[in-house]
Amino acid sequence: MFRILQSAMLAALLIGLRNPFVWAVYDDEAYNTDWQLKNIGHFECVVEAPVDALVVLSRFGDASLLSWINKTSGEVLARKPLGAKAIDMMSLEGGRLAVRAQDGDVSVYDSHFGFKLNDTVAEFSSSCTPNLSGVSIEDHKIRVLDRDSSSLEVFHEDLPERFTEIKFLKTDNAGSLEVLLASSGSEYHFSSFEDGQLAARWSRDESLTDVVAYAYVSAPDRGAVNALNELVVEESLGVWEAYLFRCMHNWRRLKQALLARKFSVGSYIKDMLEDDDEETVRERELKFGLLKYLIVATTEGNVAALNVLTGEKVWSVETGFGDILALETTKKDTELLVFTRGGQSLVLDIADVEKQPVVSRGRDVVPSAKITRIGASDDFYVRAQDGSSTVLLEKGSTNTNSTYVVDHNDKVISAFAVEGDKLDEVWKLELQPAEELLAFAGREDDPVVSVGTILGNRTVLYKYLYPNLAGYAVANRETNELCVNILDTVSGELVYASCHEDKVSLDMPVNMVFGEYWCVYSYFSSEPVPEQKLAVIELYESLRPNKRVTNSSTVQDTLFNEHRPEIITKSYFFPETIKNMILSKTKFGITTKSVVVELANGQMTYLPKYLLNARRVEESKMSKDDQREFMASPYVSGIPVNDHFVLTHFRQVLSGPRSKLTSIPTNLESTSIVCNLGHDLFCTRVAPSSQFDKLSPSFEKGKLVATVVGLLFICYFLRPLVDTKKMKGRWLVKD
Ligand SMILES: *[C@@H]1O[C@H](CO)[C@@H](O)[C@H](O)[C@H]1NC(C)=O
Ligand SMILES: *[C@@H]1O[C@H](CO)[C@@H](O)[C@H](O)[C@H]1NC(C)=O
Ligand SMILES: *[C@@H]1O[C@H](CO)[C@@H](O)[C@H](O)[C@H]1NC(C)=O
Ligand SMILES: *[C@@H]1O[C@H](CO)[C@@H](O)[C@H](O)[C@H]1NC(C)=O
Ligand SMILES: *[C@@H]1O[C@H](CO)[C@@H](O)[C@H](O)[C@H]1NC(C)=O
Ligand SMILES: *[C@@H]1O[C@H](CO)[C@@H](O)[C@H](O)[C@H]1NC(C)=O
Repeated sequence: MFRILQSAMLAALLIGLRNPFVWAVYDDEAYNTDWQLKNIGHFECVVEAPVDALVVLSRFGDASLLSWINKTSGEVLARKPLGAKAIDMMSLEGGRLAVRAQDGDVSVYDSHFGFKLNDTVAEFSSSCTPNLSGVSIEDHKIRVLDRDSSSLEVFHEDLPERFTEIKFLKTDNAGSLEVLLASSGSEYHFSSFEDGQLAARWSRDESLTDVVAYAYVSAPDRGAVNALNELVVEESLGVWEAYLFRCMHNWRRLKQALLARKFSVGSYIKDMLEDDDEETVRERELKFGLLKYLIVATTEGNVAALNVLTGEKVWSVETGFGDILALETTKKDTELLVFTRGGQSLVLDIADVEKQPVVSRGRDVVPSAKITRIGASDDFYVRAQDGSSTVLLEKGSTNTNSTYVVDHNDKVISAFAVEGDKLDEVWKLELQPAEELLAFAGREDDPVVSVGTILGNRTVLYKYLYPNLAGYAVANRETNELCVNILDTVSGELVYASCHEDKVSLDMPVNMVFGEYWCVYSYFSSEPVPEQKLAVIELYESLRPNKRVTNSSTVQDTLFNEHRPEIITKSYFFPETIKNMILSKTKFGITTKSVVVELANGQMTYLPKYLLNARRVEESKMSKDDQREFMASPYVSGIPVNDHFVLTHFRQVLSGPRSKLTSIPTNLESTSIVCNLGHDLFCTRVAPSSQFDKLSPSFEKGKLVATVVGLLFICYFLRPLVDTKKMKGRWLVKD
């Protein structure tokens, strides 16, 4: 009897453990963990397109954009950036569309697919102004008038609040109406009627187009505060008391959990097996520090907070500033400072970031060109429009530490020593008239986990971890050279300099990032082949393994730092043009750093640092020891774009020329949130070393619990069986 039961159970267990489905090799959370706001921008002209759609002309950077919108749902069907700035549109017969550029050129497009046609237009007449002869606007209503007697109303539609103008209107003056209304705050409302009945109604919010500045705050985690308080209490107690405190506390928690489930073990198990509800998911996201609020400011002066996980707008404030320069949070994320170029500034109280903020005060700063936070304080370094510099002290600031600030524009790099509100220029580096600073990257002040790189034969190359370093790239337009330098920001001394003479295209983007002990930069050059180049400079204390020059017990004076790094460099080809580049940031810096790049085609991808390694050598030259090194791979000249690493997947992200890339660390060491903010907003999560600290949501909880329960059952039945067998053996009784 027992034996049958046992084997049945074992069989059930084995069946349960064997997966009935074949899951995909890698669990891609694409389209679940990322979001995009597909913005159109300010609607400049709207005309009809065939097949239930509208075509909208809007601004996109310094040029224009054509967008197709589904009339029924308001969804964006397609967007096509035009190379130049267009000012007018005309719909032509045969599903065609003429677009007039600022310089007067008229191009004809297929208004269904957006293909450019080789047609000419004899006479251009704009279709942008809607014909309002069949309607009247009264009492905050738009009235459709009868075809024959133009004073009779057929039906009406209410105007939205803060209505500004009619962008598109089509009516037969009987039962049908299609109207697109604009209201202030860049909102657009479409309604369509058939036979006097409402057929469709939607709105589009374009107020988050063209982000110019951003900041982020974490959602307050009360659980973490409680846990911290407990730790503080425990620290003040003796060992035994602390232990008792912990036990009592855990017992209380267990009791609470059981009480909440009315002491039913069944419901406890059910809760464990069930999918998580919204509240649990939210709590978990809070705990993992994924729940952040991204605060963005747009060219129009809108400041809005978005949930960084979903892109949902939490609140928005119209500041009326058209020249916002920077957003900064102060006082432990309870205040948001809005700085403008004109010098006005605003302080918003965001103590509860989920609620509409109130303006707590305003103050005037000088007309500014650049605002930089000084160290980790709430004080700011301000470079004024006229080139002078000042320090903006937070009220009651007690920061008397002397700090260094390095400022740069495209001609000058200068360093200041800041003490209180005093600013002393320490050194200044002026470029030649033909030279221009194209990229600048200060060394990121992130935690350093190891002081050396471990080689395959267990020897160590010590990293040069001097913190006051910055890299910059200078273009010389006369000689057509690009020079890359690394300098000591305290003394202003050059640490490394090298020039590229491979016909660098100086009009293509040059980007640079500076991590722990390495600097990666990208440029486009036409020799040996016209291709994007990615170069890496690595700085070591010494290139001899196990040779350490600094030592942790002596403190170096930065002003007399005589020790210079030893340097190796390598460059690679990259198949796509790189527009923008940042380093991924994680909380503790244990995860492999990676370089997140935005390509000129709008896609985003990332390259783990071990690919961009200056110590890679050709396969034939690799020794056995070299091959044993962690993540070692032979040198190949090209780094491909790995399909699995494309963060934007199939999305078309139109970020515009002034987009900003940013990386936000979470409490999960493996995961960093990466956003690209510009015309569109796009955020996703990256885990360069895979999600080693998190079980996937599809983790098979049910099977694990079933296995444990099954094993307990087996033990429960097996034990008496063994006991009986033993006893029978003692008594020499046969089965
Ligand atoms: C427009 O949206 C409606 C409703 O969502 C859908 O049924 C229709 O197929 C869409 N049209 C196009 C062209 O995508
Ligand atoms: C476009 O039209 C012009 C004049 O009608 C003609 O000369 C030209 O060959 C056409 N180009 C193409 C690509 O069809
Ligand atoms: C506007 O529409 C009316 C009929 O609805 C038409 O008679 C009139 O010519 C139109 N005006 C223009 C400028 O197209
Ligand atoms: C000033 O420096 C001291 C020692 O380096 C440090 O402990 C302190 O936190 C600093 N104060 C501020 C406000 O940064
Ligand atoms: C360890 O490997 C490095 C690089 O491969 C080499 O330079 C060094 O001589 C080796 N050290 C020993 C002790 O083998
Ligand atoms: C660090 O340097 C000091 C002085 O140069 C020396 O006395 C000390 O032994 C060194 N410590 C280590 C761990 O090498």
